[in-house]
Amino acid sequence: MSALSSKHLLGIKDVSKKDIQLIFKTAENFKEVLNRPIKKVPSLRDITVANIFFENSTRTKISFELAEKRLSADIVNFNSGTSSINKGETLIDTVNNILAMKVDMVVMRHPAPGAAKFLSNHIDANIVNAGDGTHEHPTQALLDAYTLTEKLSNLSNKNILLVGDIIHSRVALSNIYCLQKLGANVRVCGPPNLIPNHIESLGIEVSYDLKESLNWCDAANLLRIQLERQDDKYFPSLREYSLQYGINQEILNQVDKDIIIMHPGPINRGVEITSQVADSNNSVILNQVENGVAIRMAILYLLSSN
Ligand code: CP
Repeated sequence: MSALSSKHLLGIKDVSKKDIQLIFKTAENFKEVLNRPIKKVPSLRDITVANIFFENSTRTKISFELAEKRLSADIVNFNSGTSSINKGETLIDTVNNILAMKVDMVVMRHPAPGAAKFLSNHIDANIVNAGDGTHEHPTQALLDAYTLTEKLSNLSNKNILLVGDIIHSRVALSNIYCLQKLGANVRVCGPPNLIPNHIESLGIEVSYDLKESLNWCDAANLLRIQLERQDDKYFPSLREYSLQYGINQEILNQVDKDIIIMHPGPINRGVEITSQVADSNNSVILNQVENGVAIRMAILYLLSSN
């Protein structure tokens, strides 16, 4: 087995193209396993993984749990809401106590940007960042890029558009890093106050013109309006946002080619995407979810030897 160059997966920023390609190659093998009648391999037998989620999750949590089960790992699930965090225990004490029970790997989602990196400086186990606040969501970016490579064969010089709440989106930043490493051209589009100042310095384009951007792109990844992270009002109403930047079939009919429609989930139907588009043949939203399990199996398997 080849190994990744790092002991952890904290973000895509520091992951090499070679490592991304190794993850994709390994995921391809695991995807074949997942399509067998018996979807299980013994690769992580005797490894114990703790899934530590301090924020809500459906896809990522279940996807990691299934990935671990398909690899025959032992699993513990930590629920912050019913834990001794509520009695004042720190993050480091919490994780070190879990590790004292002979846990080998930690998958963590946390609302604080940099939480996974912080933890990596204090504990002795492999850490996978399952989303840290508005910072990075590396496994989402990898499954998004993997899904795109299945559809477009490779991403070199392909035009990929990210639409919506870029400023609050960890998916956006991880996607930008990942897509660029794979040779894609990346553009963000949305209301000006949902796009971070100076984001062009990452080497991407910015546009406020949705129709022109849809004509430019090969694939559009539509990001959720993250009301839970918005202390201020960024636009007058969801209806106003939807009228300006929501994707519906009428807008897509004005684009002179078929474009791939992506969404990391959860979807706000009728806000950033209509049901007609989300459930259309152009949508790969459920392919993304399916590929997430194989991608996460690959990451856990490759990290387990580091
Ligand atoms: N895409 C994603 O992270 O979804 P969840 O918040 O449901 O895990």
